[in-house]
Amino acid sequence: MEKKVSKIGVMTSGGDSTGMNAAVRAVVRTSLYHNIEVFGIYRGFSGMIEDDIHPMESRSVANIIQRGGTILKTARSKEFKTPQGRQTAYNNLKKRGINGLVVIGGDGSFKGAQIFSNEFDIPCIGIPGTIDKDIAGSDFTIGFDTAVNTAVQAIDKIRDTADAHDRLFIVEVMGRDAGYIALHSGIATGAENILVPESETDIEDLIQSLTQNEKRKKLVNLIVVAEGEKIGANEIAAVIEKRLPNVDVRVCVLGHIQRGGSPTCLDRLIASRMGYHAVECLLLGKQNVMVGILNNKMNYLPLDKAIKEKEKFNNDWLKIVKILSS
Ligand code: F6P
Repeated sequence: MEKKVSKIGVMTSGGDSTGMNAAVRAVVRTSLYHNIEVFGIYRGFSGMIEDDIHPMESRSVANIIQRGGTILKTARSKEFKTPQGRQTAYNNLKKRGINGLVVIGGDGSFKGAQIFSNEFDIPCIGIPGTIDKDIAGSDFTIGFDTAVNTAVQAIDKIRDTADAHDRLFIVEVMGRDAGYIALHSGIATGAENILVPESETDIEDLIQSLTQNEKRKKLVNLIVVAEGEKIGANEIAAVIEKRLPNVDVRVCVLGHIQRGGSPTCLDRLIASRMGYHAVECLLLGKQNVMVGILNNKMNYLPLDKAIKEKEKFNNDWLKIVKILSS
């Protein structure tokens, strides 16, 4: 017999991604619409262990849809990895009667939710919130679109300087082990080369293409490198400087600027839809699924699959980069 969910806890966990607030708002307001009590769990699993859990009202989530970061704050909890930590967390939920959870975060957060749900038989619904877009079962993750747009704006500005000085810029973007931010921002800014962990960097090939560019007096070059790429931006710059001494090289690491800021319309929209459907899932008795969006339709994928099966990388997109930047 399915247990009816009567009180929901919502948290944001792992790295913040802009749009998380819009998802929290949707979870809170949908719960209240169904007359379900809803609690905000602060600082992710850490707050669950430390009993930082507070009732949310409709007004608690007013004026946040446009804000980056997360009003619930976030953390990466080491203690939650221990059975003792999870037991304490469960006791804190139990004493309030919380019997359903919505976890907004990335694959690390989903792993925690999956283990917790299996140990204590509490249904957990995952909402993909990460700028890295490294989760299967959804065309979008909350924060990715804003991060890419931030990267695009920054790279456009860097191009101005590259152009003024006839320089080569290597711009490193985030993404952990995934190259999606690099791929999307690189294509959108007309980068000459995009280097990602999903495809081995051929340094000889890179030098050759830069040599050809130099010969035909194309001195402005933009290389977008994902942070997870194996060789690394600084090492690549050192090789270029050594092999092509006439090329003026600079490295720019965009870093955490990509994580914050006001979410784009797309991020607000997907966060609102996912938040609404996460609550509907709990009310329908679904357990341990991630709420994604595929081909503009809601898609429900078991959490373990979302964790194990990474989003398929579109190598075909890399092929068109050379043609479009020639
Ligand atoms: O997962 C999001 C992300 O921003 C990655 O792209 C990056 O590798 C990592 O988090 C950085 O983590 P932290 O903010 O803990 O340094």
